[in-house]
Amino acid sequence: MRRAIKFLLLLLTGLAALAFAGHQVLEQTTNGWFDRDLQLRSQLAVSAASRSLVRNWQESARLTAVLEDLTSDERILGAAACNLEGEVQAATAAYPRELGIRDLIQANGGPLSGPEPAKATWSTTTALGSGRVHISGSTIDGEAGPLGFVVLVHDLTFVARREATTRSLMLWGFFVLAIGASVVTLAAARIAWRGWVRELRKALTDDATTADTSTGDFQPLVRDVRSLAERLARERHDDAGTGPWSANRLRKTLLQHLQGERVVILANREPYIHERTDQGIRVLHPASGLVTALEPVMKACSGTWVAHGAGSADRETVDAHDRLRVPPGEESYLVRRVWLTEAEEAGYYYGFANEGLWPLCHLAHQRPSFRAEDWQQYVRVNQRFADAVCEEVDSDDPIILVQDYHFALAPRMIRARLPRATILTFWHIPWPSAERLGICPWREEIIAGLLGSSILGFHTRQHCNHFIDSVDAYVESRIDREQQAVVQGAHRTLIRPYPISIEWPVHWLARVPPVAECRAAIRRQLGLAPDALLGVGIDRLDYTKGIEERLAAVDRLLADRPEFRGRFTFVQLAAPSRTKIPRYRELNEQVEAQAVAINQRWGTESWRPIALLRSHHEPLSVFAHYRAADLCYVSSLHDGMNLVAKEFVAARDDEQGVLVLSQFTGAARDLTEALIVNPYDLQQASAALAAALRMPVDEQKERMRSMRRIVAEFNVYRWAGRMLIDATDLRRRERMHGRLSGPVLGETA
Ligand code: G6P
Repeated sequence: MRRAIKFLLLLLTGLAALAFAGHQVLEQTTNGWFDRDLQLRSQLAVSAASRSLVRNWQESARLTAVLEDLTSDERILGAAACNLEGEVQAATAAYPRELGIRDLIQANGGPLSGPEPAKATWSTTTALGSGRVHISGSTIDGEAGPLGFVVLVHDLTFVARREATTRSLMLWGFFVLAIGASVVTLAAARIAWRGWVRELRKALTDDATTADTSTGDFQPLVRDVRSLAERLARERHDDAGTGPWSANRLRKTLLQHLQGERVVILANREPYIHERTDQGIRVLHPASGLVTALEPVMKACSGTWVAHGAGSADRETVDAHDRLRVPPGEESYLVRRVWLTEAEEAGYYYGFANEGLWPLCHLAHQRPSFRAEDWQQYVRVNQRFADAVCEEVDSDDPIILVQDYHFALAPRMIRARLPRATILTFWHIPWPSAERLGICPWREEIIAGLLGSSILGFHTRQHCNHFIDSVDAYVESRIDREQQAVVQGAHRTLIRPYPISIEWPVHWLARVPPVAECRAAIRRQLGLAPDALLGVGIDRLDYTKGIEERLAAVDRLLADRPEFRGRFTFVQLAAPSRTKIPRYRELNEQVEAQAVAINQRWGTESWRPIALLRSHHEPLSVFAHYRAADLCYVSSLHDGMNLVAKEFVAARDDEQGVLVLSQFTGAARDLTEALIVNPYDLQQASAALAAALRMPVDEQKERMRSMRRIVAEFNVYRWAGRMLIDATDLRRRERMHGRLSGPVLGETA
């Protein structure tokens, strides 16, 4: 726009100069035209009257009468007849005698009686009084030769008038032209701007997987930066004056809005698993992004977490109602364990959830398997958990948080028993396109089950849009696109993006040694030189995580950049996961074989490029590895969010270390200062690893500082807080409409 204004100013100056020059040229040209025109007119008039003039030349009175006839044109001021010497013989009354016609005749060709032959006609302009006059002389020839001249004096003030009119017309013309040009320029600039904005918007809303990343090496997608900026601005505005989100603020928000009502969470994975070992019962923290996110929320909110009791010593550690107070030693909330038979677990968890829905929702080239017997177990187990939730609530309009793809049917089942409940469902993995969802034989039931929720949350707006498209394609309902809601009869489900995060500060870090100590300790543990370069990857062994692509990128790095051989080691912490599923066992073997092959190709007696640690790692060890590393590579092929990326950032209070992050993670939308890569593009990924290892400390700090600010601000308390605030708003509205009992929330009862 600024450019358009500059251009406009330039244009106006140009037009003004043009107007000035134009005026000069026009004046000269029109003067020339008038001169020739008057001369011609004079000649015509004189020649038309020449016979009368000749006839009456000697008769002064008659001659004057002929001359008066000649001046009938209003622009002819006067006329005179002169003899050969230039003396006036006869003249009209208005003829200006002060003209000094002799001199003029001398100046324009000389007297007809002179030695030189005089000109037959001549003309000139001269000043007269306050104006100018045009004087023309024409020779009058008698039978015996020239008799004298007839002089006609034209008034030129009309020329000045016409000139003035022309000038003002011209100025108006230029003025109109200038306005027109300005309007056209501004309109063109606006159209161009709109077109640009439209293009930008289009680029920003295109599918993540089809977005063009070729414009800059490892650059974030423009859309991600833009949506992050918008989110920041929107949420800053909403939160003005309330400060950053923390456990304390979440607790206060709950007290203020929920007035003591307890939150019940339903999630398949429990936050604490009790395992029987040779040394007795051991408490494990499962490797699950969902647990990482929800545990701090539950600690802040209290309430009950309903989950599958999967640990070998779980039954021994609960009370008579299958409940247990956690966290061990600082009890603040309850876990309610639900027991599943082997057949239930096989059909519901391994079968329908993890061989059906999981590959359905992730674009990771694994075919989903849908079996009717798994589906039956899924329905049955969802009902069992829904019943357990209903046993845990303490009012008929509780707040219930349903988590993930294990419980797509539970929201509707809970609503059937508790119609007034506020059910917040969060889908922690991507939601597929409507077309892909069509693969699932029970897609209608899945959607209908989720629509039992009051609010249905996804990590990204893209997943929300996919869900709304799926509703449109497969179930009867009204879609309120403006409110992002699905309406079925009197029931409304809001569809909203709530990008999940981690606690800030991470409580584990208080027990992890500082960076320098972790660097030394982990290098010692891995048998590396103290100054060895170290990369880290931390995942469940899952085919969506791109672990094979990650190791292949390390292989490529060593092949293309020999300077890293012998100096760089990549340690992969891989927690075995869902090992009863053949594809996971297969992956386990493939990754193992791949690590061996790379180590054989490049390793030496004293150095191996890949350290594959396939076992469960507790959070303290995980965070020590984050702190020890020079880089962390998250290479998911498709990931709803990925909290490993955010944990790495949280761990680096030294503001060093580089995050290399797959563009196919939800986290890439928030952590735009990471080196963003396409994990399938081994050349790009290995170049990013090299860039990370060579990155100057100043740049590392700048990037890390910015990412830490983002994770600190968009922490999990904000995620939970915003969902709960939206839920309480919804409850307030429903109570006002008489659909819920009790006082309007947020107001003193
Ligand atoms: C993903 C899912 C979680 C799940 C976690 C671990 O993050 O979204 O619901 O808990 O994987 O998987 P697991 O099957 O071990 O619970």
